[in-house]
Amino acid sequence: MSDQHNKEIDKVTGVETTGHEWDGLKELNNPAPRWWVYVWIATIIWSIGYWVVYPAWPTLSHDNQGGTQGSFGWTEYKELEASQAEIVARQAQYLAKFESASYDQIANDPELNAFAVAGGNALFKNNCATCHGSGGQGAKGYPNLTDNDWLWGGQLADIEQTIRYGIRSGHDEARQSQMPAFGKDELLDKEEIDSVVDYVLSLSSDEGPDASSAGAEVFANNCASCHGEKGTGGRDFGAPNLTDAIWLYGGDRETVYETVYNARSGLMPYWEGKLDENAIRELTVYVHGLGGGEGVGAVVEEEEHAAAQEAAPTEATEAVTSDDAPATESNIDAPAEPSVEEGVEEKAVTDDTAAE
Ligand code: HEC
Ligand code: HEC
Repeated sequence: MSDQHNKEIDKVTGVETTGHEWDGLKELNNPAPRWWVYVWIATIIWSIGYWVVYPAWPTLSHDNQGGTQGSFGWTEYKELEASQAEIVARQAQYLAKFESASYDQIANDPELNAFAVAGGNALFKNNCATCHGSGGQGAKGYPNLTDNDWLWGGQLADIEQTIRYGIRSGHDEARQSQMPAFGKDELLDKEEIDSVVDYVLSLSSDEGPDASSAGAEVFANNCASCHGEKGTGGRDFGAPNLTDAIWLYGGDRETVYETVYNARSGLMPYWEGKLDENAIRELTVYVHGLGGGEGVGAVVEEEEHAAAQEAAPTEATEAVTSDDAPATESNIDAPAEPSVEEGVEEKAVTDDTAAE
């Protein structure tokens, strides 16, 4: 700081210097600009006003949320409550409509549909993304929900049932089925497993399946009951299509061997009772709309939907974002009961949801 002893006047400007010097540059002791001083004083006055009207000073007492209250009585809690009340009021307006609307009505009402998708998106991120990925793209053992490769079915009613009751979830109504552990439980010997694994790999290869191989016979006797004669999958049992090169667990030889040897039995939790009705339906609409949804309305509502389309053809086709065609049944060729070779029967749990 400058002091009386080394007071120095700059020759060019005639202004006193502070005595600070860097590489020959000297700092002049100019006063702060006026405007700056006024703004500074204004902020001090403003802050005093602020202390009075808003909560500002922490106090030791706990009864007033840890600080001075301010004469406006404003708190972040109150603001949060107000904005939440506003959101709830806005939601209520749609919820009332949503609650009583069928899936067809939702699909045909862009506003309701947007409401369901937005709600479903948030619910999905909170409850499902840990397993299915934040966009529903899935991971090893957790199915991709954005493609049209469905284990249990991609119609709204199928998806709702999956979400509501889960898969092997322990819920009484859960989707059940159990691929036997062919190796661990000694249902097939190593040679048979090797041959059937080769056959499974051939199903999705460019050369196509080797129908005359030993593996083809093992497959027909042990696997076709769930996965279908041609290996195209069986939705009654959640048995994946093995011909499409879309793998739940992996399509390299080692992984397929592991699947056949030990089985997998993926678990999808049930959400009934954990999420409310509207949440489950919002999630259903959201998942259905991720890209692979089949049909439009629930199976039972299909006739109604066709009628609705006739009545208002343009509106219906415009609003429907997903594939409008009825579900293809072509890849569901599993019999009603899985029948497997001797010794496997007790393992093959029938699916009590088959009556859809
Ligand atoms: C703990 C992990 C986990 C969570 C959390 C989870 N899932 Fe799943 N989900 C799975 C597994 C594993 C499967 C496949 C089960 C099987 O092998 O059949 C599955 C299957 C599904 C299917 C059936 C897919 C098909 O191809 O038929 C749907 C739909 C689904 N989940 C939706 C959801 C939704 C919606 C949520 C959130 C409310 C959710 N899941 C939360 C693990 C989970
Ligand atoms: C009782 C019905 C049933 C029988 C019988 C059955 N599977 Fe499965 N399989 C399933 C189910 C259900 C899954 C779904 C995966 C899970 O358990 O989470 C599956 C999954 C698979 C997978 C994993 C596919 C992927 O995408 O990763 C392979 C491979 C497979 N099975 C092969 C076979 C072979 C080979 C046989 C016969 C030796 C067989 N399965 C018999 C029901 C069955």
